[in-house]
Amino acid sequence: MSLSAIYAGSFDPITNGHLDIIQRALNVFETVHVSVIDNLDKHPLFTIDERIDLISNSLNSDRVIVEGFQGLLVNYAREKNIFSLIRGLRAVSDFDYEFQMSLINRAQEPRLDTVFLMTDQKYSYLSSSIVRQLAKLNGDVTEYVSDYVKIKLKEKFHG
Ligand code: COA
Repeated sequence: MSLSAIYAGSFDPITNGHLDIIQRALNVFETVHVSVIDNLDKHPLFTIDERIDLISNSLNSDRVIVEGFQGLLVNYAREKNIFSLIRGLRAVSDFDYEFQMSLINRAQEPRLDTVFLMTDQKYSYLSSSIVRQLAKLNGDVTEYVSDYVKIKLKEKFHG
């Protein structure tokens, strides 16, 4: 039985909502791979190396492995031989998309299961783009990201 799981995302940047999901995942799995997608259509604010650095410096657990990946998530899962995917659910509106992704991934790789964890209510409206927008416009992101991410957002937008 696998005691490892993959939590994949763009993490541009990692937020306290993501950290909350990782913490919850660690209650269920021995090891969590936080896997940062490299080939984003989204034109990320932070490079892949920066996003990995932001995650590594926002976490303090030897049970978390942070790394980048390219291409299909199912291929990465096969490479790692890990067939549990973590997804965070923030609101009912996340469900349709997650349901579709979960079934597409499983159609590609029948061994895959998606494990959904509910994010803390206080992060239910949070997303990385909201954080980026706030930081860009000099809003206060203290409640939403780690101190390290807050510093790096400031450097990125305001030098
Ligand atoms: N707390 C805070 N924010 C959260 C969150 C949480 N618990 N859960 C999700 N979000 C936010 C994310 O930050 C992201 O915000 P943004 O759009 O402002 O950047 C948004 O919700 C969407 O998140 P998510 O659905 O996880 O998208 P993603 O881009 O971070 O990651 C992948 C999606 C990488 C998992 C997915 O695209 C993938 O698997 N790609 C590889 C290709 C593939 O295999 N595709 C599937 C078959 S075609």
